[in-house]
Amino acid sequence: HAIAVAEQDYARGGFAHYLRKEIADQPQSVAGTLRGRLDHRFATARLDGLNMTPRELRAFRRVKILGCGSAYYAGIGGAQMIESFARLPADAEPASEFRYRDPIIDPETLYVATSQSGETADTLAAVHEIQAKGGRVIGLVNVVGSSIARGAEGGIYLHAGPEVSVASTKAVTSTLVGFALLALLLGRVRDAGPAAGERLIAALEKLPAQIDDILAREDAIAELAGRIAGSQTAFFIGRVRGHMVALEGAQKLKELSYVHAEAYPTPELKHGPLALITPDVPTVAIVPSDHLLDKNRSSLQQVKARGGPLVVVGHEHPGEGLADELLLVPRSEPELDPILLGIPLQLLAYHAALHLGRNVDQPRNLAKSVTVE
Ligand code: G6P
Repeated sequence: HAIAVAEQDYARGGFAHYLRKEIADQPQSVAGTLRGRLDHRFATARLDGLNMTPRELRAFRRVKILGCGSAYYAGIGGAQMIESFARLPADAEPASEFRYRDPIIDPETLYVATSQSGETADTLAAVHEIQAKGGRVIGLVNVVGSSIARGAEGGIYLHAGPEVSVASTKAVTSTLVGFALLALLLGRVRDAGPAAGERLIAALEKLPAQIDDILAREDAIAELAGRIAGSQTAFFIGRVRGHMVALEGAQKLKELSYVHAEAYPTPELKHGPLALITPDVPTVAIVPSDHLLDKNRSSLQQVKARGGPLVVVGHEHPGEGLADELLLVPRSEPELDPILLGIPLQLLAYHAALHLGRNVDQPRNLAKSVTVE
């Protein structure tokens, strides 16, 4: 028994929970996803596992991403990276719904199935549906040799290392990085020039050190988490790229702390949920310093006017009276902003859960990989 306990401690790397270790792993797990894949000479990504020639890649007219839970949210982020960098229409859809709507499978669409475990039944069924109808599907998967990895015609392994905790953290981050690599490659075989490629490569290379920087601010996040833990409910809002960060942040809080949270696209707040904003309902707003900063400021004002406490996750203070709490992250390139903006929210959910005495590694009713329908 003593040996088993010692081994477990070792696997957790001295941390109290796998979840906390996996959050701390991220500088290394992101480096693992990038390793050997950045090609400075041609300012592109090298993704040999795709098993597709540049010519084949150039022929796709669309990208459709499928995944479940946090993998689906990361897919939303991935679709945005592909659209904005490669200028290829892309979207994400829950894999769990896909096959039941008798989807039209388009031979000029690149389908991407994304899954940490590579074993999620709904995602695997989506792969089979696509293939049965003659579509081409690649995997974005962490576990090597898993069913989805074997079933897809090629793919990108995350190389994030094992993720044990039920709630996904480092795999979400590495999935976003994997999509950034795919966007880089698809962009470079199409119209993106070498300077654009280099811009993204330089930003990708900075990520591990930037993540370290965020992790160093844990104490302040833990203190804030104590207050969030006392709420009945919280809103998470973000615009465009920030929306998937809000979805994933709300999901983490629900899964880990059981505090109810709801995510909305920021401008949708005024179309209904604003009715629920009171001094007891905190809003976590994703506000990067991008072209939407001013739009976001007016949304923050709407929340403030109803007395709602505001936690802002962004690159700078949004302005006088517009943030009660600030969680700052380093700037990246706009396409990559969601990667860093999500990390403080992992810590926020973790510490809220600790505060409430939850079983953080194994939340009630949830499983690490859902291999049944
Ligand atoms: C389960 C887990 C989630 C995860 C989802 C998809 O529901 O609890 O954390 O995001 O499955 O898992 P996958 O292994 O396909 O990424």
